[in-house]
Order: sequence, then C-alpha cells, then structure tokens
Amino acid sequence: MAEADVGLIGLGVMGANLALNIAQNGFKIAVYNRTGAKTDAFYADAGDLRDKIVPCATMDELVEAIGPPRPVIIMVQAGEAVDAQILALRERMAPGDIIIDAGNANFHDTKRRFSELGPTGLEFVGMGVSGGEEGARYGPSIMVGGTRSSYDRIEPMLTAISAKYEGEPCSAWLGNDGAGHFVKTIHNGIEYADMQMIAEVYGVLRDGLGLSPGEIAKIFDRWNAGRLKSFLVEITASVLAVTDEKTGTPLIDLIVDRAGQKGTGRWSVIEAQMLGVPATGIEAAVAARALSSMLDQRRAAEDLYGKSAYDLGDIDAAALIDDLELALFGSKIAAYAQGFAVMRAASAEFRWDLPMGLIASIWRAGCIIRSQFLGAITEAYKAQPDLPNLLIAPEFVALMDQTNSPLRRVVSKCVLAGLPMPAMSAALAYFDGYRQARGTANLIQAQRDFFGAHSFERTDMPGTHNGPWAGVD
Ligand code: 6PG
Repeated sequence: MAEADVGLIGLGVMGANLALNIAQNGFKIAVYNRTGAKTDAFYADAGDLRDKIVPCATMDELVEAIGPPRPVIIMVQAGEAVDAQILALRERMAPGDIIIDAGNANFHDTKRRFSELGPTGLEFVGMGVSGGEEGARYGPSIMVGGTRSSYDRIEPMLTAISAKYEGEPCSAWLGNDGAGHFVKTIHNGIEYADMQMIAEVYGVLRDGLGLSPGEIAKIFDRWNAGRLKSFLVEITASVLAVTDEKTGTPLIDLIVDRAGQKGTGRWSVIEAQMLGVPATGIEAAVAARALSSMLDQRRAAEDLYGKSAYDLGDIDAAALIDDLELALFGSKIAAYAQGFAVMRAASAEFRWDLPMGLIASIWRAGCIIRSQFLGAITEAYKAQPDLPNLLIAPEFVALMDQTNSPLRRVVSKCVLAGLPMPAMSAALAYFDGYRQARGTANLIQAQRDFFGAHSFERTDMPGTHNGPWAGVD
C-alpha cells in the first residue's frame, strides 16, 4: 500500500537520524538499506516513531510504499554508490518522482546527475545537509539545489525537519542543479579553516604559554560567551575538558595529531582555484591536515632539527590571550570573506544567482559552523546583496580595524617562536594584500613581459605595452 510520504535509502548514522527526524515531524517514511539487518535494527529501535516508519526489504518495496509523486532521499557514501542507487531507482520510479541526494556530493556529479535525469522526467535534487548526527536527528541546516518546482514540493518536509533560528527555518532553495551541494562544499571549506584556526590558537596556548587542557578549555569557554560564540568554539572547550577514564589524563593529550579528511575541504580549494578566487585560509587549513598526516616524516624532521622551544620571549600572558581572541576573530572574518567570495564567483560562472544573505542566514543554526558571527554576515548581505567581498562591508571594516593589529601581533610573535600559524597567517596576508591599492604585481608583469613578451598595461597611458628589454641582461 502506498502509504508513505517519502522514502530514504541508506540507514547509516546520518540516514537513520534524518529518517527519525522526518518521522518525528509527522511524515510517514519508508526506509531501505542494502543490508536488511540494519533496516530491522533501525525499526526495532525506533520506539514510538515506529508507526511513522515503513521498513522495506527491497527497493521495489520502498518505491511501492510511497504515494506518487514520490520523493526518495539517498543518504549513502558520495560517489559511485549514489550513481548505483540512482540507476536502480530510475528503473522503478515514474516521471514526476523526485530523487534527492542528501550526501556530501561533489557538485560536478550533481550537475551531471541532474542533466542525465532530465530526459527521464524524474526530478533530481542535490541537497547539502549539515549538523552531523545531532543535526540530522533534531534539525540540520539544509542547502537545496535543483529546480524551484522540485523544491516547492518537498519544502514543507524540509522546513519542518530543519533547524530554526529565532523561528526561521535553516533550510532554503539556493539555485539550480549543483547549487546546494556547492554551497555545502564551501560550508565545509570554511569549517576546515575555522577548525584549523582554533587549533592554531590551541597550539599557542599549549606550547607557547604552557597551559593545561583544562586551563585552555576555560579560555575557550569564556570566549564562547563573547564575539566568538559558535558551535566550534563551544565544542573545543568541551573537548579540552574531558579526562580519559583509563589513564586520568586529559583525553586530548592522548589523541594522535593526524587529521582525517573526506574531501570536501579539498574540493572547495580546487573550485576556488578553478574560479581564480583566493581562498588562502581554506587552502592553508586543507594543507595543514595533509601535513598532519605525514606523522612519520614530522617525527624524523623533529629529530633532525630538534624540538623548538616555542619561546615567546618576555610577554604578558594575559595580554596575549586577549590578543588571541581578537586575532582568531579577525582571521575568521578573512576566511569567511574568502568562502563567500568563492560562492559569488561560482554563482556567476554557473548562473545560479546564489542568495548570499540567505545562505548566511541558514548557517546561523543547525550546521557545524553556526555562530553569532553569521548573524553579522547575514545583515551585511541584507544591506548589500551584491557585496563583492565581506571585507568592504562597513561593519566588517570596523571589525577588521579592531582585530587586524592583534592578529598581526599574534602572527609575528608566533612566527618568531616557531609556532605554526598557517591559516591565521594566510588570513592576515590575504587581508594585507586585499587592502593594498598598489601591490607588487607590476614587477610580475614586467618579468612576464621580459621572458615571454606577455605585455603589460601602464599607469599613465591606455593600451598594452612591451618593455625595452631586448639587450637588457
Ligand atoms: C557537516 C560536516 C559533515 C562532516 C564532514 C567532515 O556539515 O555536518 O561538515 O559534512 O562532518 O564531512 O568532513 P571531514 O571528514 O572531511 O573532516
């Protein structure tokens, strides 16, 4: 009997939690997982929500269980598994049905799938979902790409299950085909930068000031009551305060410093490069994860060079901690400015007309980078929807005026002490480059012209020119 409102394939952590969220919001959901035991266990554990769940043993059962036009959410590992599910659904679904990929897909794949499904009459939605396990269960931030009419049909369900910020749903249609997955990719790139900058500050407090995890936890906790209020700062404080039961040591000290990555950070950097938009804070964060993974080489290099003393010299620790708070905020502004600039360029390139203010607004709750600061970004884009870069919005000029000196002091002290600051120093260099009306690319142009006759423009006359390099050595 076609009794369900929606279907879901893939009962991994995210899929299972999303399904429970949907059921809890009153929508009847048919679920299917390749391994049937997982479906059975999910249903058995669903408690009161069981009457809103239709467990299906086969994909045929799943499709038959949903009333047409059928929306089916795919929540499986990005890549080939998604194509395999789409292929299987194509054979079973009818024109007008909607396939929704809710995984972390590469938006190029989403664009391809969108056009491949076009002629079949099936609709395809690429949907970024952020918030991890907790978000999926109780309210994620949802970034939707596809046709507006597909979105309109699934909007009531998405609005119901999404996080709410002061009553406003953190779910929105952002544009055609791959727009939703692109925005989710940049969300993750920003997430990488944010996490890396927090980790750099932790490094200064740990290695430069010699503070214990418990002491550092208190600092982040205090910062979380101010301008840095955010989920990532909040969980940093929580993580640092945890003691390992077995050893009685702070757990953080027992965790190997080798960061994993599934690819979305790297994709955001690749796309930034392809679009010709500097995203150096995000790039540095992705590179820092790669460097962290070279643990054996790092150990060997420390043996060769000796362990750095991380000597910050004669400093006032309390003043440095105050500077670190502002420095983290300033570098965060620069990294977010880069992420939004990448989205702006992609919007023009792929003709999405991405609504920047709306994107910032649906990141205010539910997602991993949710923060008070996203409220300020929302306001900046509301005031000026076509803002070329956050760094020139009046309120951000004021914030950078306030934070760039502390950032400069922190970065310069850490450079001298040998404390790595890849993302924060990249953010500062970006700011310094961005605010400089006359940089040094005149020399690059002269060099290019010298060895390749690439020509240059002059400041004092129109047209293109070549220098009198012949014979100059
Ligand atoms: C989110 C997260 C989520 C996931 C990342 C982790 O928004 O909910 O970003 O998508 O945690 O993919 O990515 P890495 O494994 O690459 O750190």
